[in-house]
Amino acid sequence: MPAPQHFITGAELDADRLDLLLHRAAALKEAPLSSRALEGRTVALLFNKPSTRTRTSFESGVFELGGHPMILRPDEMQLTRGESVKDTAIVLSRHAAIIGLRTGDEDELNGLAEHAAVPVVNMLSPGHHPCQALADLLTLKEAFGDIEGRTIAYVGDGNNVARSLAVIGELAGVRVRIAAPDGYQITDTPAELFTDPVEAVKGADAVYTDVWVSMSDDESSAAARREALAPYAITDKLMSHAKPEAFALHCLPAHPGEEITESVLYGERQRIWDQAENRRHAQKALLELLVSPQRGEG
Ligand code: CP
Ligand code: NVA
Repeated sequence: MPAPQHFITGAELDADRLDLLLHRAAALKEAPLSSRALEGRTVALLFNKPSTRTRTSFESGVFELGGHPMILRPDEMQLTRGESVKDTAIVLSRHAAIIGLRTGDEDELNGLAEHAAVPVVNMLSPGHHPCQALADLLTLKEAFGDIEGRTIAYVGDGNNVARSLAVIGELAGVRVRIAAPDGYQITDTPAELFTDPVEAVKGADAVYTDVWVSMSDDESSAAARREALAPYAITDKLMSHAKPEAFALHCLPAHPGEEITESVLYGERQRIWDQAENRRHAQKALLELLVSPQRGEG
């Protein structure tokens, strides 16, 4: 299989390439300045939505690979004055080796990928957050070594983070269970679906959650979401149904007292802060792969 040109949903990878990428991410974590894969190259990072982790991990990661991270905000670009996504893609491709986009509009992302002459990376869209899933699997790998056959129970809103975890988890042979109430499920992934959070968590190796109100959700739905999702919070009690060595994960930002308790978020049974750090290491391996597509051949 040729190297993927873009990284939009994560399904562009195959099992072998994902395995290689995770090994490479672990190596880069050990030796963060060992690669100059982006020497003399610019990576354009366009944020149409707020970000703490994605921005800082990409910006520092590109720097560590010897490249220049060019952070772009839409209010500073001609996009806000009617310039097309097509023309933006063509021009950015003349300056940057890779383009990253965080957007609330899936069409914008697909349009950018269609017209860019360089790889496009999805830095979060309403439907997908594949960069997050790479860091999630790296975190699992750090804990268990071989992750094939391990079980992650995702509890809460069936959203972009859950979808990418299911899609990329399957490539790695990880069993992903998703527990969500009716109306908050995603049905377009290989994940095993549950409505009972306890059933989903039983015997799991890791328990994962995300915010109940995502950036692309209508704020007017927030109260209804909090009510429907309240039984799906990660608490010490819910954790007690998982394996004794299981830990909690959260892509962050967290809302302690909503989807996760403070005691789990800052407690002994979590790898959430390592998971946030792993964004940088996993994305560096992805950037290397995208600029050096021969990596992993043969
Ligand atoms: N997890 C994640 O993508 O966080 P940010 O929204 O802060 O980038
Ligand atoms: N589901 C969340 C993830 C934030 C990193 C959102 O889309 O806002």
